[in-house]
Amino acid sequence: MEIRLQKMIAGTGLSSRRKAETLIAAGRVTVNGKVVTELGTKVDPERDHVKVDGRHLTGAQPFVYLMLNKPKNVMSTLDDPGGRTTVKDFLHGVSVRVFPVGRLDFDSEGLMLLTNNGELAQALLHPRYHVPKTYLIKVKRVLTDDEIAQLQQGVHLEDGMTSPAIVKKVKKAEQNSWLEITIREGRKHQVKRMLEAVGHPVIKLMRIRMGPLSLGDLGPGEFRFLTDREANALRELVEQRLELEQTGQSPSARPQRPKRREGWAKPDGIRKQSMKKARRVA
Ligand code: URA
Repeated sequence: MEIRLQKMIAGTGLSSRRKAETLIAAGRVTVNGKVVTELGTKVDPERDHVKVDGRHLTGAQPFVYLMLNKPKNVMSTLDDPGGRTTVKDFLHGVSVRVFPVGRLDFDSEGLMLLTNNGELAQALLHPRYHVPKTYLIKVKRVLTDDEIAQLQQGVHLEDGMTSPAIVKKVKKAEQNSWLEITIREGRKHQVKRMLEAVGHPVIKLMRIRMGPLSLGDLGPGEFRFLTDREANALRELVEQRLELEQTGQSPSARPQRPKRREGWAKPDGIRKQSMKKARRVA
């Protein structure tokens, strides 16, 4: 089957589609020995010989990316010497060895990315990439606006001040409340420690977004492969950050501010079930 040249290049994991287009336009790609600079060119990956900078693309192992909704009380590693359930136990039918990109605490749940693309995983985990991660959390009691402002500006933890965060009110009750918090760092137990620092221990924590990925309605313990668009968005994110670095512009550690909202808002992009649970706050 014929596909667009840039899609084939991106499909091998070498680059995003946007970067593949740049490579083609720069004359760095050959098809059956001829330089091709036409972006609409179609190729048959089974038949045509495509080279980038003289390197053959056929035979390159396609990268695999998948998203798992890690349930609570599951290790986010592939093995556990203590014999506890790990994320691997949920990857039924996945024959490729994939690795978790980052961790969630044993008692946390939600979005985990797994891939065999080690370079991309390393880049996404590197603090300089500042990939935003959003958590839906249930905390003890109701935060005041001052406490929310403290979290947004940065709180003092034993390993230093936290970078600015985005905090959205979701739902409140008498004894507890639900919030969405977006951070761009990845320190150990960071969200729990931030909330402890303002006097509101976390009761429940679910990661619902990571960079361009959203958990959507994936149920606990379920996984799905990323769409082409999602995998491409991840590669683009890494490439954009690299480009910024190479041009001497440091990527901002400050998350984009949401539109100002008054009061307790509804969360967006979370599972209906979680919404129901959030509504049922006791
Ligand atoms: N912050 C935490 O405290 N725990 C997690 O699992 C993820 C972020």
